[in-house]
Amino acid sequence: MADQTRGSEPSLAGTLGQRFLSFEGTEGSGKTTQVRRLQDELERIGWRTLLVREPGGTELSERVRTLLLDPATGVVAPWAELALYVAARAQLVAEKIRPALESGHLVLADRYGDSSVVYQGVARGIPVGEVEQLNDWATSGLRPGLTVLFDLDPEVGLSRVSSRGSRDRLESEPLEFHHKVRNGYLALAARSPERVRVLDASRPEEEVWGELLSIVLAHLETVGSETAGSKETTRP
Ligand code: TYD
Repeated sequence: MADQTRGSEPSLAGTLGQRFLSFEGTEGSGKTTQVRRLQDELERIGWRTLLVREPGGTELSERVRTLLLDPATGVVAPWAELALYVAARAQLVAEKIRPALESGHLVLADRYGDSSVVYQGVARGIPVGEVEQLNDWATSGLRPGLTVLFDLDPEVGLSRVSSRGSRDRLESEPLEFHHKVRNGYLALAARSPERVRVLDASRPEEEVWGELLSIVLAHLETVGSETAGSKETTRP
């Protein structure tokens, strides 16, 4: 399924996607802290970057985020939940991600379509192929060239989350849900080894950082040759 839809992507999406990196993971994996540090480092060495988070990043998408994460929203039907995440994504791609890629930026996304595949697909039970198709429709087939998966035992991650404050609507799901998410991510990584790199996020922060940076720099080495002219426009 994934490969069939990928085959029909507009070629522009494929080319732009090389400068589009996503970061995925289970709750409390340290992803957000590491991605912020990565943005600082990439800017320091001369890349122009845009960092976005999902759901969010635009006026509309932030409003949808509030709805989705507020525990007061209560139980949401799986397809309604998927539609809201995808709507937030469609707006973010149209308003922020695509224009940034077209102007030569490197885009770092703290979560993207794989979150829907794993949370709404694998964990909520919507067929994964249908989630992928919806993602592709909403984003005109824009997929990341590299995805880094921060893998962590959900029990460890959720206890970190709880120590930071109260849990949001998704974090409040039972442990079993979060195990499905983790296994879903690992299965996805096994299915797409050319795109998805798995990082063991249980290691000390500096070790995770070192590996993250080397994975991303190795990917960026290939970007210059595949997207004609992009390196010149993104580096001084
Ligand atoms: P957030 O606080 O941004 O999570 P984190 O800091 O772990 O990245 O909350 C986003 C939540 O929404 C998170 O529990 C994952 C979930 N989610 C989905 O279920 N589907 C999606 O498509 C996306 C983007 C996120």
